Formats: sequence, C-alpha cells, structure tokens
Amino acid sequence: MAQQDAVTLLDDDHNEVIRMFEQYKAAHDDRRRQVLASQIRQELLVHMQIEEEIFYPAFQQATGDRELLKDANKEHAEARELLAKIEDDRTNAKLMLDLEDAILHHVNDEREKMFPKARATQGLDLMDLADRLEARKGELMAHA
Ligand SMILES: [Fe+2]
Ligand SMILES: [Fe+2]
Repeated sequence: MAQQDAVTLLDDDHNEVIRMFEQYKAAHDDRRRQVLASQIRQELLVHMQIEEEIFYPAFQQATGDRELLKDANKEHAEARELLAKIEDDRTNAKLMLDLEDAILHHVNDEREKMFPKARATQGLDLMDLADRLEARKGELMAHA
C-alpha cells in the first residue's frame, strides 16, 4: 500500500524534477550537465506517462472536466517536443531552460487547478490511484 495519496506522490515527482533543474543550472562541467539532462528526461517521460495512463483518465472520469485535461495534454506534447529537440542538440543549454520554463508552468497548473479539484472530488480514490501510479512507475523505471 502506498503511504501517501496520488496527488502527493505526483507532486513529489514535481519537486524532484525542479530540484534536478536547479542542479543542472548549477553544474559547471558538460559531463555533469549531460548526466543531469538525461535524468531529467527520464523522470519527465515516466511522470507524463503515468499521468496519462492512470491519473488523467481517472480524473476525467470522476470530474467530467475535459478542459483541464486538454490543457494538460497539450502541455505534455510541448514538453515532449522540447525533449526531442534536446535529444538532437544535447549541448544546447537554452533548450533546457525553455524546458524548465514549460515544466514550471505545467506543474503550477496541476498544483493550482487539477490537484485541488482531484482532492475535492468524491469518488476519486486517491490512495488506490497512488498504488497504481507507484507500481507503474516502478515498471517503467526498471525498463528505462
Ligand atoms: Fe502533467
Ligand atoms: Fe505532473
């Protein structure tokens, strides 16, 4: 059983990736930056996938809110586009800063709109969702 609910679990991922961006910006050598960039990439791809597979559909079903989902999916698509550009141009620190901006914006939307609504919605079992998110994340991380 998960120790915390789905919203806390997802927001822990957010804090983790924000911390990784801070480390990336503070890193002095290219090698260290490359390592951090690829960790950020993995963290973001897994996080977006578990949200899309598990959390977003459950949220949409319980709330009937299509607008928040549409925005969230659009922002995930933008993040994936930036990640693809970064793969093609690994030394481009400007793209990493663009990615950080996009992620901060998206995280803010989830924190201020989606998560409070999820917590306020009856019929959304956030503990059960946390178990499913955690299990799926473990699987994806093992194969990443
Ligand atoms: Fe998201
Ligand atoms: Fe998220």
